[in-house]
Amino acid sequence: MKDQLATIQADALARIAAATDERSLDDARVHVLGKKGTLTLASAGIKDVPKEDKAAVGQLLNAARTAITEAYEKKQAALQDAADRAALAGIDPTLPARALHTGSLHPLTLIRDRAISILRRMGFALADGPEIEDEFHCFDALNTPADHPARNEKDTFYFDSGKLLRTHTSSVQIRTMEKSAPPVRIIAPGSAYRRDEIDATHLSAFNQLEGLYVDTDVSLPDLKGTLEYFFRELFGSETEVRFRPHFFPFTEPSFEIDVKLHAKGQAPRWIEVAGCGMVDPAVFESISATRKDNAFDPARVTGFAFGMGLDRLAMIRWGIKDIRLLIENDARFLKQFC
Ligand code: DAH
Repeated sequence: MKDQLATIQADALARIAAATDERSLDDARVHVLGKKGTLTLASAGIKDVPKEDKAAVGQLLNAARTAITEAYEKKQAALQDAADRAALAGIDPTLPARALHTGSLHPLTLIRDRAISILRRMGFALADGPEIEDEFHCFDALNTPADHPARNEKDTFYFDSGKLLRTHTSSVQIRTMEKSAPPVRIIAPGSAYRRDEIDATHLSAFNQLEGLYVDTDVSLPDLKGTLEYFFRELFGSETEVRFRPHFFPFTEPSFEIDVKLHAKGQAPRWIEVAGCGMVDPAVFESISATRKDNAFDPARVTGFAFGMGLDRLAMIRWGIKDIRLLIENDARFLKQFC
């Protein structure tokens, strides 16, 4: 048995030494240590060894197994080492790494998220409505009569069904009041569409952020304070904001809000960024008729509303001269927001 073990061990070590890759090394392992391997079979023979020799033979067996296993593991490590070295041949790991291109959020996303976070801090919750709207929610319920120019086919995208691409997010005011009773304090960011000539400050598909606050005691100073605070939070405490009297069918009184744009290489100029006003009682009357209750009784509740152009806000925030840059996907422009 002793001689047999010595032969097995010598043969095993020779096979391991001769292995040139993982595959031949594994073949050697199976030949010796596998289920029908030479050492495995020899181990099985221990049951025939006389009792008094068993301990000694056992020791020999263990020594052989240890020697073979150690040789196997050593060879395995050496082969792995050689493979790693070969894989790295020709590569200089001390060279500086090539820069990865990092993506970034689009400026419109950045300004929208920032606007939302400021208004949420003031207690406004997010609301939503469809972009394909009906005339009722886009116009009639907002006190905008059939002969109003905003409804003209030349200004608005109509579908054959009579539906239209909403011309403003103000329709969400109506959708919200249909569902919930005062106090209502919501904001609704989203797309709006108009048949506008595209130029440096106009797009036919653009982005607005609507706001509505209705409660028993909402006043004009609440509106002015809220929006002034909003614009200073968004653009900095030095920001110049002005409210110009204006007309909107769904608010009375109504204002347009201008913020001063300081674009590089241009004289500072006022840019109109939002419309706002106190909700016209006619809107509350229309809602009351739809809801068939007096939750929005104009004798009981008042409210303010506003709608701002997010594209314009982005232009002011970063001094962007031309609104078209926001939709052209020119990497040289977008990279600046990384
Ligand atoms: N919907 C108006 C527009 O698109 C903006 C606007 C004006 C929204 C006054 C309002 C508002 O909520 O009260 O031009």
